[in-house]
Amino acid sequence: TRKALGEAHSKLILVGEHAVVYGKPAIAIPFPLKVRSIVEESSGNIMFESAVYTGPIDSMPMRMKGISECIKETLHYLGKPLEGLRIRIDSAIPLGRGLGSSAAVAVALVRSLFSFCGQEPSQRELFSFVQIAETHAHGKPSGIDMAAVSSECPIWFEREKEPIPVKTNGPLYIVASDTGRIGDTRIAVENVRKRYLLEPEKVEKSLEKIGKIVDEAKNALLNGDMYLLGQLLNRNQEELISLGVSDDGLNRLIERARNAGALGAKLTGGGLGGCMIALADSLESARIISSELMKSGAFRSWYFSSQDDSLY
Ligand code: PMV
Repeated sequence: TRKALGEAHSKLILVGEHAVVYGKPAIAIPFPLKVRSIVEESSGNIMFESAVYTGPIDSMPMRMKGISECIKETLHYLGKPLEGLRIRIDSAIPLGRGLGSSAAVAVALVRSLFSFCGQEPSQRELFSFVQIAETHAHGKPSGIDMAAVSSECPIWFEREKEPIPVKTNGPLYIVASDTGRIGDTRIAVENVRKRYLLEPEKVEKSLEKIGKIVDEAKNALLNGDMYLLGQLLNRNQEELISLGVSDDGLNRLIERARNAGALGAKLTGGGLGGCMIALADSLESARIISSELMKSGAFRSWYFSSQDDSLY
């Protein structure tokens, strides 16, 4: 039988989440946890298999409507009938932790459908079909997840603009830890919006500061100044706290990471649960921080160097 594969990786937002919704820049980096989508010829209705749902695409639960729409629109575009396929999603990316799992699934899916038809999607084609799935999953996302999970290098992202590759001087040693609690990005984004309406000047000030931090972070990456970058992560976290999107569990892990030798630490993604990241000055230091975070109650912890694909 004919078979095709599509892959995508997850992402971490280094600096700038939430402010990016208001038109400020953000920097995201690839995270080596991966998802694969395997498309095979079969007979009858299009069947979908994943850890979350297995069955015909027409009976998908409401919250997966975006995925079925995305499959249908992509196949329609490729001139394929809506039958005779089996699609299997095999993902190592935990859901709802700010790692971009939904965007990564959609990117892998669209790539696999194109590949099955002997084609490769352009960036524009990829985005337009992934957007269908993402809009259903997130309401009106900034688009940073989609851009980050389909890029092989760190990106500078601004709403409605083409993502730009960010130059880095030397590897980044990053620890990412999962609080184990789902971080509902939609609610976090909504909370910031409410706060903006109540205290526009205060929130505007925070957003401005985050925008400047992202700008400085770009230069720190360019110069390989990891000490400065660490401080910028810490300053970004202060602003995220004042926007109301951090919580006790995240703050505890962030504090722990700093005490264990991190150059800086902050939440990553939507917040209110989900994951935090820490910057280390070596792979060995990242290993130590990661194991300290596990001892302090992290649900899962990973560390890696941005230079290769291995994840510990
Ligand atoms: O999907 P998450 O949890 O990584 O959050 C995306 C970043 C936000 O800025 C909070 C939302 C957005 O749409 O940009």
